[in-house]
Amino acid sequence: MDENDEAIRTPIVSVLGHVDHGKTTLLDEIRGSAVAEAEAGAITQHIGSTVVPIDVIERICNPDEEFDLPGLLFIDTPGHHAFTTLRSRGGALSDIAVLVVDVNDGFQPQTVEAVKILDRTETPFVVAANKIDAVPGWKTQEDAPFAETFAEQSERVQNDVENALYEIIGDLHDNGFQADRYDRVNDYRSTIGVVPVSAETGEGIPDLLMVLVGLAQRFLTESLTTRPNGSGEGTVVEVKEKKGLGTTVDVLVYDGVVEVGDTVVVGGQLDPIVTEVRALLEPSEKVEINEEDEFNRVDRVVAAEGVKVAAPELDDAMAGAPFVVVGEDDELGDVTQRVRSE
Ligand code: GTP
Ligand code: MG
Repeated sequence: MDENDEAIRTPIVSVLGHVDHGKTTLLDEIRGSAVAEAEAGAITQHIGSTVVPIDVIERICNPDEEFDLPGLLFIDTPGHHAFTTLRSRGGALSDIAVLVVDVNDGFQPQTVEAVKILDRTETPFVVAANKIDAVPGWKTQEDAPFAETFAEQSERVQNDVENALYEIIGDLHDNGFQADRYDRVNDYRSTIGVVPVSAETGEGIPDLLMVLVGLAQRFLTESLTTRPNGSGEGTVVEVKEKKGLGTTVDVLVYDGVVEVGDTVVVGGQLDPIVTEVRALLEPSEKVEINEEDEFNRVDRVVAAEGVKVAAPELDDAMAGAPFVVVGEDDELGDVTQRVRSE
C-alpha cells in the first residue's frame, strides 16, 4: 500500500444531550456490552474515547448482512462548548451523533441547543429516547432488542411509551427535523430515527448500534475514507500536564498515521508549534476513559483513534487546535501556514 491508498476508517460518534439524560451511562452500557461480548482484550480504550470493533457490534446486533466498517469510535462530549470547538478540517469532528433524550423528561433547554449545533454543523444524528425502563409499569428484559421487549409490555405501558415518543418527535419537528420511531423510517436522509433505549438495562442498545452503523455505511462512506499510510491529521482534545512527560496533548486522530519521531505542527495560542513526537500513549486495558493511571507506549496509531502525545514545547497548545504530521513530501512552511489559518 502506498500513502495514497484509501480505506474506510472508523466513524467518530459523539454523544450529546441535556444534563442527566444519560449520556455517560449510555456509553458505559455500550462499552460494558462490548466488553461482555468481546474476547478478553478486544476492546481498546483510547484517550477520551472508546472504540468498539465491528465484530463485537455484529455479535450484539445479529445483522442479516455483515457490516462494512472497522467499528465505531464513541466520544463522550463534555458539554456543548467542547463539541463546537472540536472540529476537524472543514467541519465537525464527529461524523455522526447520538442525541440522548430522557423519554420521561422530553426536550429540555440543552436538548434544543444540541439540536441547533447538529443542524448548524450538518452532523447526521439519531435520537436515543433513553430510560424506557423508568416508564411506570415497564417490565425489563435485560439487553433485549426493542421490538422484543416492547411486545412484552402491557397495552397501557405501550401507549405511554408511544405518547412519550410522539412528544419527542413533535419537538424535533418544531426544530425543523422530520422524525419517526426508527423502525418506521424509510429514508434516514430525510427523517431522524428515534430509538427507544435504556442505558441502565441495555434494552434497545442493539437497535441503536444497528441504526448508527446503517447511517454511517449508507451516507458517510465518502467522508470516511482515510489514507491508512498517509500523514496523520487530528484535533487536540485536551492539553494536560503529565508527571515525567511535561505538557502533553490528547489528540483525536481522524486521518492517516502518527508515529513516534514524526515532525508535527500543532495549533498554539499565538503561533503554530513545530515539534517532534516523543511518545504515543494509549490507556491500558479497562482503564476508565479519563483515568490517569496506566498508559501503554505504542510506536504508531492509525485513524480514527484517540491518543496522548508527549512532545517538547507543547505549553501553548490549545484544545480544538489542529495537529498535523509533516509528511515526507510536505513543505514545513505549507503545513505551518495551513495550521495557522485553521
Ligand atoms: P451529565 O454528564 O451530567 O450531563 O449527565 P449524563 O447525561 O451523562 O447522565 P448520566 O449518564 O450521568 O445519568 C444521569 C442519571 O440517570 C444517573 O443517575 C443514571 O443512573 C440515570 N440513568 C441513566 N440512564 C438511565 C436509564 O436508562 N434508566 C434509568 N432508570 N436511569 C438512567
Ligand atoms: Mg455525563
